[in-house]
Amino acid sequence: MLSGDAACVVEMRDVTKRFPGVLANDRITFRVHAGEVHALLGENGAGKSTLMNILAGLYRPDAGEILVKGRRVQLGSPRHAIAAGIGMVHQHFRLVQTFTVAQNITLGMPQPRFVLNMRAIEDEIARLSSTYGLRVDPRAKIWQLSVGEQQRVEIVKMLYRGANILILDEPTAVLTPQEARDLFATLNRMKQAGRSIIFITHKLDEVMEVADRVTVLRDGRAITTLDRKDATPKLLANLMVGREIGGTMPGKKEACSECVLRISGVSALGDRGTLALRGVSLEVAAGEVLGIAGVAGNGQRELAEVITGLRRVQEGCIMLRGADITNRTPLEVIRCGVGHIPEDRLGTGMVPNLSVVDNVILKSYRSRPVAKGPFIHARAARERAADLVQRFQVKAAGLDRPIRLLSGGNSQKLLLAREISANPSLLVAVHPTRGLDIGATEAIHRMLIEQRNRGVAILLISEDLEELAALADRVAVLFAGRVMGVLRRDEWDIERIGLMMAGSATADTTGCSADKGDRVS
Ligand SMILES: Nc1ncnc2c1ncn2[C@@H]1O[C@H](COP(=O)(O)OP(=O)(O)OP(=O)(O)O)[C@@H](O)[C@H]1O
Ligand SMILES: [Mg+2]
Repeated sequence: MLSGDAACVVEMRDVTKRFPGVLANDRITFRVHAGEVHALLGENGAGKSTLMNILAGLYRPDAGEILVKGRRVQLGSPRHAIAAGIGMVHQHFRLVQTFTVAQNITLGMPQPRFVLNMRAIEDEIARLSSTYGLRVDPRAKIWQLSVGEQQRVEIVKMLYRGANILILDEPTAVLTPQEARDLFATLNRMKQAGRSIIFITHKLDEVMEVADRVTVLRDGRAITTLDRKDATPKLLANLMVGREIGGTMPGKKEACSECVLRISGVSALGDRGTLALRGVSLEVAAGEVLGIAGVAGNGQRELAEVITGLRRVQEGCIMLRGADITNRTPLEVIRCGVGHIPEDRLGTGMVPNLSVVDNVILKSYRSRPVAKGPFIHARAARERAADLVQRFQVKAAGLDRPIRLLSGGNSQKLLLAREISANPSLLVAVHPTRGLDIGATEAIHRMLIEQRNRGVAILLISEDLEELAALADRVAVLFAGRVMGVLRRDEWDIERIGLMMAGSATADTTGCSADKGDRVS
């Protein structure tokens, strides 16, 4: 396509961006048309966020140029980008929790000399909301909103500021299936109104469902741009990974009946001081994956935290292989053999400013072979890190570099590698593949099944029903801090799970079916 093409609203030409040790974008040319949804697809670390951060004015390219509607622009800051009609919704929202929706939407905008007319602003927000099907209440405070609602606020904020080209960085990673469908409907309305949407994703089915065209990035290069009608999931997967994928998953062994984790009647408070878990009872057997389904914010995080010693149990008890671990410290819980892949990888799981080596030994520096008396055996630590990086295919420019410089997917792989290699008897995995590309997701699913087959009990918290279907032996659905029901594999039914996720109970609410010989592998 020629750059003089009238349909082309944004053109990035030969854009290059280097970080120390990494060529994140290598002479990328990328063109977006008016009124299209353009998917940007690529594995973790392919350079998608970097390219879009350049377009949103957050990073300066080292070389190359950007044209908006045929005119060369310098995007020195997000403000310049917005002035050119480009707005980005990041995966981590940038909203002020204690402000209202309307205040957030107008925050930092050039102020008129007279007092802001809130009424007019609210009217405009309401108009945008109804035009695009983005339900938001302008007067609600951000902290009162669900993640999906906050995302709508971010989108309305960009529309309010005049974005005609909207960039969404992995928008569905935080949404329920229903919310994702609503978002796609919104995107369709926006494109009918002539706006362009750049949609970063790892999910092939989303590309097939919502995109008009797709550009595939691999290792910092733009591999190709295709019309959706010429694409198939298999073709996209191969372009993205650069090799044939879709190897077979290891078969599942029969779970045994030894109960590893037994949670009985556990209640706990959430961060706002209200009950986040209400009498939860669940069991996980050795060699079993118990999936926890539910819309985010229904007690999943708190459940993982009470088990791993990060949150106090108010009532009830938690037993690990017959030992009471209720309200033990996180260190004691780790020593009892509990591995944890937390939701917030860079907060609780890893230390962003520490190196790859230091993060790998973070939990094991007190024990051999890494500990040498009171000292750390530097070579053993390095070897361990190098081994994990190699075995789990973590892309890292160097073992001594801070892990905040790793792409999201690669830091996640490293975290998993560390937890799995500690040989836990129970692994608590919270959204283990959120934000990961198919190659990495496949690798992690394989690792989890292998662990399961080795007899590890796995509590898998996920919002991705396909992931639960692929991995879980049984699925418990949490709603408002309660177990709404537990389904075995043979009772698996997406409709029913969807209903339970929305709060309608089924007969079985005990959450316990281990020991009864009724499990199916
Ligand atoms: N601020 C930074 N400093 C140094 N290196 C960086 C920085 N941001 C990204 N990188 C590196 O650039 C490469 C591309 O990263 P980028 O975040 O663009 O990938 P991505 O395609 O968005 O991946 P993911 O799907 O994991 O989000 C990675 O190797 C990453 O480690
Ligand atoms: Mg990214």
